[in-house]
Amino acid sequence: MTDPGAAETNTAFRLVTLGSASLLAVGSGTSSKTLLRPGKPLALLIYLASLPEKTASRGHLINLLWADTDPEHGLRTLRQTIFQIRQLLGDDSVTSSGRDLSLALPLEFDRDEFLGAVSRGDTERAIAIYKGPFLPDFGVPGGAEFEQWADRERDRLQSAYVRSAESVVRSRLDRGQYDLAIAEARRLRDFDPALESSWRLVLESLASSGDRTAAISEAEELERYLASEDRDPENLTRSAIARAKKLQPLAPPDEPAVPRLVADLTGRDREFSRLTSTWAVVKSGHFRHFHVAAPPGFGKSRLLRDVFTRLRASGSRAVWIGALAGDRNLAYGLASDIVGRIGQLSGASGISTAAASSLIALNPKLSSSFSATADRSDGEEALRHRVHALTELLEALADETPIALFIDDMHWSDPVSRQLLKSAFSRIGDCRIFLVTSGRKVPDGNLNLAATHLISLEPLDRDEVKQLLSSFACLPDIPFSEEFVSTLHEHTGGSPLLILENLHLAMERGLLEMKDGDWSYGNRASLIDAMSRGDVLEERIRKLDEQLYRMLLLLSVAEEPVPVPVMSSASGRDQSDVEASLALLEQHALAVSSGSEWRCSHDSIAETVVRMAYPQERAQAHHALGAARFQSSYLPHLRLAIRHLNASGDRDKTREAFVHAVAIARAAGDRRSNLQLATAMLGESIPSETANRLAASLPLSNRISLPTVMRAGFVAILLTVIGLLAFRAMPAKPVQVAITTQPLAANALVVPPPVVEIQDRKGRRLQRAVDTITVETVEAKPGLIGTLAIAAVGGRAVFNDLSVDGEGPVQLRFKVKGLKPALSHRFNVTGTNPTLRLISGVVNGQRIDASHRTITVNRGETISGDLLLHYTSYWGSASVILGATATWGDRKKNFVDLAPLFTPAENQPRRAHITFTAPETPGIYHIVVAFDAEGNVEDFMSGTNWRMPEPIWNDGNDIVDWTPEQLTQAKARGWVQSKFVQIDNATGKPRTDPHPVAATVLDVIVR
Ligand SMILES: Nc1ncnc2c1ncn2[C@@H]1O[C@H](COP(=O)(O)OP(=O)(O)OP(=O)(O)O)[C@@H](O)[C@H]1O
Ligand SMILES: [Mg+2]
Repeated sequence: MTDPGAAETNTAFRLVTLGSASLLAVGSGTSSKTLLRPGKPLALLIYLASLPEKTASRGHLINLLWADTDPEHGLRTLRQTIFQIRQLLGDDSVTSSGRDLSLALPLEFDRDEFLGAVSRGDTERAIAIYKGPFLPDFGVPGGAEFEQWADRERDRLQSAYVRSAESVVRSRLDRGQYDLAIAEARRLRDFDPALESSWRLVLESLASSGDRTAAISEAEELERYLASEDRDPENLTRSAIARAKKLQPLAPPDEPAVPRLVADLTGRDREFSRLTSTWAVVKSGHFRHFHVAAPPGFGKSRLLRDVFTRLRASGSRAVWIGALAGDRNLAYGLASDIVGRIGQLSGASGISTAAASSLIALNPKLSSSFSATADRSDGEEALRHRVHALTELLEALADETPIALFIDDMHWSDPVSRQLLKSAFSRIGDCRIFLVTSGRKVPDGNLNLAATHLISLEPLDRDEVKQLLSSFACLPDIPFSEEFVSTLHEHTGGSPLLILENLHLAMERGLLEMKDGDWSYGNRASLIDAMSRGDVLEERIRKLDEQLYRMLLLLSVAEEPVPVPVMSSASGRDQSDVEASLALLEQHALAVSSGSEWRCSHDSIAETVVRMAYPQERAQAHHALGAARFQSSYLPHLRLAIRHLNASGDRDKTREAFVHAVAIARAAGDRRSNLQLATAMLGESIPSETANRLAASLPLSNRISLPTVMRAGFVAILLTVIGLLAFRAMPAKPVQVAITTQPLAANALVVPPPVVEIQDRKGRRLQRAVDTITVETVEAKPGLIGTLAIAAVGGRAVFNDLSVDGEGPVQLRFKVKGLKPALSHRFNVTGTNPTLRLISGVVNGQRIDASHRTITVNRGETISGDLLLHYTSYWGSASVILGATATWGDRKKNFVDLAPLFTPAENQPRRAHITFTAPETPGIYHIVVAFDAEGNVEDFMSGTNWRMPEPIWNDGNDIVDWTPEQLTQAKARGWVQSKFVQIDNATGKPRTDPHPVAATVLDVIVR
């Protein structure tokens, strides 16, 4: 049993108890000798080593290990055992004092190391130490006590291991280390198959990794195991099995052209963990929005999908919606998809009928989920209702279960959906919603919420490219591998999509192969060449149809972004056709638009297209663009025309364009010589002979510069010509004011808000006009309230807060100094401002009415009573809410939502019950009852428009800040000219505007 003579000086002793049992002598190297195998001496050592004081009485030890013999015999055997141990470990290893024996020699002990790692939270270390159950199959005849102790210890250590392993598996999953996670989950399950939580972890890990086949087979294995044990699965297990069996392939079904190679997610560990760890924050009750932005092909969708799959696999509620390129021009296209998906989830049924009816209007499919009819409103009103409805829906869903919403490809979203999403997500409270969006780096690619966290994906670096390659197969350990990786990195700019496409192409051409888990190279020179030349791109371009290719060629030869009308004229196709083709090119990530102009998405694309085109095709493209640009009289465009025409080789046409351009330049006072002009127009890169030839080709009249003109008659003619040309050349002049959106009516507020432009004589808006446009009524009465003078931005002003003070009909006049003014339609005022009047009431037993509205109460007393109010509002179907606030206490809390009001209505009676607690300080206070068409009572209590993300308090326009004059106004006429913070439509920034609020007041005297 023993192996004597091991007690050398440099030897450490190690107790092994996890997975097996022995005492080892560990030498200075890696060698070790087994000193004790399972038996009573080892049991004794282990027991002593496990005690905190490492000390036990002899009696206790005899009971523990020799309970089946008489005490005398037990004592003798104990002595022999101690003797044996001392022989092995040294005389001082076990000491005795009185009746006690102590283990005095420090031993390495795997159990202690394991528990130490667990208590330090070093879970990776802990699971590495845990080689298996504590003292497995360790029988000690006569040692029943010891066996019981070992059983308890085994259970304790096992559960510490299960906790550690679970945490390790989860953190590996969170870092996207699926293989490691699966391995540990399986090990955990194998230690104790009876533990269903471990099976669930295996299923979750496999599902996260996207290994659908393995997940299904493990799920079936688990079912067989449970059946063999005659056990019903736990509820969680039941759903884990169902989930595994329903698992979709990794890519959502609408994923376009899945590449044949799918690499492990590479170089995105940080981003992946950041997203998955945020989910825990969301689940604990918080809203979070992450936006992933990057150029095409950098893996935005891939990252989102992996996180999505991960959350789904862990049983979380996650929904995937991809914006479609075709939907960009479909108003509410994306929003409709979103509510169609989330409107059917459990929890959605908790929303109000009004919200349901807006959602049905947004997506008729939902009529099967809600019993409501579609909301009929349109325009701004519809948007407003939908914002309310979506906000309500999101909150209702999150109230039930946390939800993760993945919206991919935001750059394809339609503008109104974006506005709807932005407003709704700005308004939801801090609820359990995780919004993850992705988009290319274009102006409309992001929702830009106040709470947005931005993740920008960078190109893969060289090491990551290597890692990506190695995730398919091993790279041979030869210098060429390094060259291959570098070339691939350099010529793809680290774009994962381009890397994968390059690999495909090289494999298709037999230049690269995967054999027995290794990459193997074909003709190396051709491989490097194919990658360096950008053959992948050529392949993509070759696959375009004729029309798309023509469009791309035009963009490729163009030196500057091209507006759609120029594309249309150059291609001889109508504008809508051209727009459709450009949108397709954009989907292929070959073209991008900035505003209304288009260009190739990358210079390398333009270069490749130009290189691939036949010379004749190139010349035609230049000619077409040159001719299209020649239609302009604007010098910079003419310059482009000249360059293109020159590049096309059409000398006559080039000369014609040059003559035209020189005349315009001269007219504008340009004194440079013709040669200088020719060089400037053609660009420095053109050979000087070309410029010379062009300058020399000018007709005599143009070749003479102004100061040298001698003959008066000629000068006169020239001046006339110049005059005419100058007229064409000068930018158009502002001439008139025009109304592009007419007001139709006013219910106090003029609706719709008039939109007014400054135009040239042809009725074209002058974008650069910045003059102030003023408005007035044509007749002296009624008057106008609101912003009466607005500086035109981009030649346009929107009068969105005009209200008419009095009875109609009304006609408006819009004026700009020096220009012809514009008159609006004559429209009716459907009523005065919305009003709220106090008719009568009883509060704390005191009667009040319009002329007696004061109550007297004691400090801290409850103020309670009923009011009869009359309200008038001409707002269409807006949601109008009645509320009341006290002018004491915490303004953000001391108000109440009394009731919704139905509008339009004129002098409609409405009863309201109010309850407040009187303040502790005597004085004169007020209760203001008011209504407005805002989202919430707090909006108008704080003087904030509903489109602002949240109410803004203490900025001077809260109702409790109303001046004595305003309170008097409210009492006298039922409304107050207050101020609201709202979003400026032009700039998107908050601004404060006058705003009428219907209100009435009670005076409260506190004694
Ligand atoms: N980090 C990565 N590791 C491995 N493969 C990746 C990685 N990033 C992207 N890929 C792969 O590259 C291809 C393109 O990625 P993806 O479609 O996610 O790009 P994208 O940024 O969403 O592009 P787009 O703007 O066109 O929507 C996919 O096949 C994807 O699986
Ligand atoms: Mg994408």
